[in-house]
Amino acid sequence: MGVGAAGGAGAMFAAMGALGLAPAEQRSDFVPPQASDFRLRGRAAAKVVVLGAGIAGLTCAYELGKAGYDCTVIEARDRVGGRSLTLRGGTRISEMSGETQRADFGEGVYFNAGPGRIAQWMVTLDYCRELGVPIETFVNNNSSAYVYPAGATAPVRARTARADVYGYVAELLAKATNAGALDRRLTADDKDHLIAFLRRFGDIGERLSYEGSPRRGFAAFPRTGPGTPLAPPAGLAEVLAGGIGRAVTMDFGYEQASPMFQPVGGMDAIVTALAAAVGADRIRTGTRVTRITNLPDGVEVICDGSAVRADYCVAALPPHLLAKIPGNLGTPVVTALATPRPVAAGKIGLEYGRRWWETEDRIYGGITETDLDLTHIWYPSYGYHAPRGLIVGYYNTDEHAELYGRLAHRDRLRRALTQGKKIHGEKYRSEVVSSVSIAWQRQQHIEGGWVRWPSFSGAFELLQRPAGRVYFAGDWLTHLIAWQAGAMESARKVVTDLHHRVLASAG
Ligand code: ALA
Repeated sequence: MGVGAAGGAGAMFAAMGALGLAPAEQRSDFVPPQASDFRLRGRAAAKVVVLGAGIAGLTCAYELGKAGYDCTVIEARDRVGGRSLTLRGGTRISEMSGETQRADFGEGVYFNAGPGRIAQWMVTLDYCRELGVPIETFVNNNSSAYVYPAGATAPVRARTARADVYGYVAELLAKATNAGALDRRLTADDKDHLIAFLRRFGDIGERLSYEGSPRRGFAAFPRTGPGTPLAPPAGLAEVLAGGIGRAVTMDFGYEQASPMFQPVGGMDAIVTALAAAVGADRIRTGTRVTRITNLPDGVEVICDGSAVRADYCVAALPPHLLAKIPGNLGTPVVTALATPRPVAAGKIGLEYGRRWWETEDRIYGGITETDLDLTHIWYPSYGYHAPRGLIVGYYNTDEHAELYGRLAHRDRLRRALTQGKKIHGEKYRSEVVSSVSIAWQRQQHIEGGWVRWPSFSGAFELLQRPAGRVYFAGDWLTHLIAWQAGAMESARKVVTDLHHRVLASAG
């Protein structure tokens, strides 16, 4: 195929990966197709029709376009970006129920209704760098935020909850170790080292008993005086029963570890930059695909009555919607597309005329974790000390998102405020100046927050390969579901596979 010679080791590995010869990790060495790849072969670049102007579709069109491919992007919605959606004052958003909301947010206030955070290792940041999208820190973990476990009667600061959970766990393990419970596993030295660590981990002192710690915070923080302590911790059983452990371990995983990042001014800055790089003239919004047909020498896509012919197609739509589009992809492919289950997800943006969470609660960004049906409350990681600001008043999934999604916006708002008031008091309810909510499962042409596969074999594997000349792309084809990075990684894989096929094909 001559790929190694033309594109260097990276392209060779990518091609080997496409053929299943190189370990999967080699795929991370993405070598973007170059216009010179075609010049070297004296061949015209292919025409590609991309279905869906979400992150996956736009990334495909962007990378292919850099190499001179003739791309057309077809998008059913009236705006690009898919779930990467930022709402600002004046934006209208409709749901399949027929209800339309209009965001009335003030100047500078925005609501990331879809993705809101990016981990450092994610390819999303590489695109931000390449496209000149400025980023800033997203506060994912804030010890000043609250936790509100099931059965709570009052919120507890995350720092207090963490100190209590760590403290009691450290005490239990240290005492069990000293009592000889781990003697079959640990040498005397091991035990010394473990206990030294546990004393730090739980702040349990020489007696190895958790009796509270300044780490819990204060009723009034130290100033000229030593501060006013909090009431002592609840007992071990109460702390364990409260399920606080879940709330204080949310960010332990590699996807959520701090620091995380966000584009300055709204997540859609990525979409805007990608769409500009692709070229507005190549993107047709408000255009619905009604048939996808593999032809002997190309593909035909019917959209709103007219036919678009291309050499290849990249279908970057949600799989459950793709499965319903007529065509000749074949039963195994259609069955595979219908396999992943859409997951409901919802959010509400609550705008306040003053940033009481900063001035009164002393919370600057971060997330309150709850067992209430609102699940998470996000405080803004931008606009600190500005006159107004926007809280994400619920971010929930699955049955809780279904529950809120079934309600009209007015009732979602009422429910969110009734719940949130338990944490923040009456101001949370009475001081809202505007709000917008979204139920992703009710967004037309999307119909889900993301998907869940029953397994990552079978259908998932089948769709990694093209069906004739139709390739599939999206976060749903990766192990990074519900992350823009997944959409981008999938796009890169498809672009690589497609490009090597084009270079290898005769003609
Ligand atoms: N990636 C999604 C989030 O950050 C699930 O919440």
